[in-house]
Amino acid sequence: MFDSNPFPGAFGLDISDLSIKLIQLENISDPKNGPTFNLKNIRNISLPPGLIINGEIAQESQVIHYIQKLLKGNNSKDKPIKSPWVVINLPETHTFIKLIIINKNIDEIIQDDIEIEAQKYIPFTEKDMHYLDWEAIPIENEPNKTKIIMAAAPKAITESYVSLIEKAGLNLVAIDIESLSIARAMVTADKQYQNEARALLDIGGTRSNIIIYDNDTVQFSATLPFSGELLTTALEQKLGISHEKAEQEKYKYGLKYQDQTKIWTALMEQTKQFISQIQKDIYFYYSHFPKTNTITHITMCGGSSILQGLDQVLTNELKIECKPGRVWKNLNSNKAIKVPYEESIKYATAIGLALRAADNPFTKSDSI
Ligand SMILES: Nc1ncnc2c1ncn2[C@@H]1O[C@H](COP(=O)(O)OP(=O)(O)OP(=O)(O)O)[C@@H](O)[C@H]1O
Ligand SMILES: [Mg+2]
Repeated sequence: MFDSNPFPGAFGLDISDLSIKLIQLENISDPKNGPTFNLKNIRNISLPPGLIINGEIAQESQVIHYIQKLLKGNNSKDKPIKSPWVVINLPETHTFIKLIIINKNIDEIIQDDIEIEAQKYIPFTEKDMHYLDWEAIPIENEPNKTKIIMAAAPKAITESYVSLIEKAGLNLVAIDIESLSIARAMVTADKQYQNEARALLDIGGTRSNIIIYDNDTVQFSATLPFSGELLTTALEQKLGISHEKAEQEKYKYGLKYQDQTKIWTALMEQTKQFISQIQKDIYFYYSHFPKTNTITHITMCGGSSILQGLDQVLTNELKIECKPGRVWKNLNSNKAIKVPYEESIKYATAIGLALRAADNPFTKSDSI
């Protein structure tokens, strides 16, 4: 487990419609302290609208330009990132995961077992399907059964990201699935959740994801249309103010001040729809999955999760405690991280990618 990484300096790159974020970690794990990582680099660059639209790369050369700018360093203090090794993810909207059980011991599972199962469950025609990755998880007290999380994405979208990374002069170590990267950062790695499930809510600039983590794995994930841009645009239209001013009012008041009637009403209108979408997804999970546990806590991340008052409104309406989480917890590092909380919370996905990048990929039986 503690061998040196064959991809030195590998980092995570979280490519979104309106931003690219980079996290590089240093693996300082040792047998005494277990998995431990120090933060080496944290960077973010905004993208103008139109370069990536709903996860599809619309202007490749422009996106490459921004990736290279980010690698070089945004400000004079930054040193260029020298490592070519990168882990990226594909946008949640374009990926598919399925959890299955195979009646074999974890050590006996071969690639063919997974491929046969994949054809039954993955909703793309064989020609379009790009089969990505799988992870095997042992089942306690049942040595002849193994849980498998399979991940897939359409070929065209996968190839467009592979091409982007290659043309940017980087080498791909792995392609991750967004819900799995978020869970890697936000679910406490060394904690056993007995008889309780967690939901994770990533509320970003252009969309949100709900992820349900239960019985030791990600079980279900879905994309929801709620986002920071949606809220800003709602304020802009309802209050007849500029986008910039609407963004400022959103930060300043959020859902905290009911006496700011116009702001509160406009934001609440969108939030109510968000709440009913979350309720539908939670109900879907309880009614369609076997052996579900009750979701006792919702951990939030993403820049819009810290909208003032949002955690309280969600807690009251969903009757489940909702709170923005601690994104650095799985680094287990004693070294203080001097990044403000409001900034850190946007990096959950990138941290999950970086954790995978900094881990030696050849020392585990799984690959996600
Ligand atoms: N203090 C705050 N209050 C309210 N909203 C905020 C605050 N800080 C950031 N945001 C919002 O967070 C959003 C950006 O979040 P984030 O960086 O997680 O998105 P992203 O990863 O670029 O987008 P996505 O994951 O949706 O593709 C913006 O819409 C911004 O307005
Ligand atoms: Mg994001």
